[in-house]
Amino acid sequence: MDIRIFPSAESASHSLARRIARLIDFKRSEGKAAVLGLATGKSPLFLYAELVRMHREEGLSFGNVVTFNLDEYHGIGREDPRSYWSFMHRSLFDLVDIPPENVHMPEGMIFREEIDAFCHGYEEKIRTAGGIDLQILGIGRTGHIGFNEPGAGRDSRTNLVRLDELTRSDASREFGGMENVPLNAITMGCGTILEARSIALMAWGEGKADVVAAAFGGEVSDRVPASYLQEHPAAAVYLDERAAILVGRGSRGKESCFEG
Ligand code: GLP
Repeated sequence: MDIRIFPSAESASHSLARRIARLIDFKRSEGKAAVLGLATGKSPLFLYAELVRMHREEGLSFGNVVTFNLDEYHGIGREDPRSYWSFMHRSLFDLVDIPPENVHMPEGMIFREEIDAFCHGYEEKIRTAGGIDLQILGIGRTGHIGFNEPGAGRDSRTNLVRLDELTRSDASREFGGMENVPLNAITMGCGTILEARSIALMAWGEGKADVVAAAFGGEVSDRVPASYLQEHPAAAVYLDERAAILVGRGSRGKESCFEG
């Protein structure tokens, strides 16, 4: 497993931001779009802030970027400040020059009977875009990636899932109480995520040390869906020192070149 340990979440995020900028520029030089899979949560906040800074101060353009977000709460509308749609626009999309039509996110306000067709359509859009070049991930304390909770199959596709109670409890502060946290979400499946040509998972702080060790220091198991990344040919795990205390030491803060 390619585990990269950095002194801080900021330094790790800056390294990943430079990697993304190289990917975007490389794809532009080929006349192509860079297709990014994006995540929400606290983990990518330094990354998005650095990408915004690079856009403002270094002229990094998102004109040739196409994005697909991992997940969205079911029953939460786009305009709701707690939706992932709002989060992504606040943290990144409204602050850079990405064409709005290049942004794709699962739709939270959707009737049950429309969900299957929506999920098929989402997968089709990813295929039509040529597949995901680089998928950004966080990890939940249950070991989830996207919202693929323990038990999610390695080949699962974009679908409606029930959220684990630990995941709902972690989200309860944002929602002003556990009773307000949605029960379900639409998420890319593990199979969808693993089809990305490269993957970068971020985890910061001692609160993630146990789950990081379970995912990347042990066996591959559906009890910890993030462990499937061990079988991906180009998955890297970006950790700060506190998140890494329980896993074996990997390469220390090594910069990678964009693979492929
Ligand atoms: C949520 C998201 C995940 C994210 C996880 C970790 O459940 N659906 O994509 O990785 O939380 O969140 P954080 O980065 O805030 O720890």
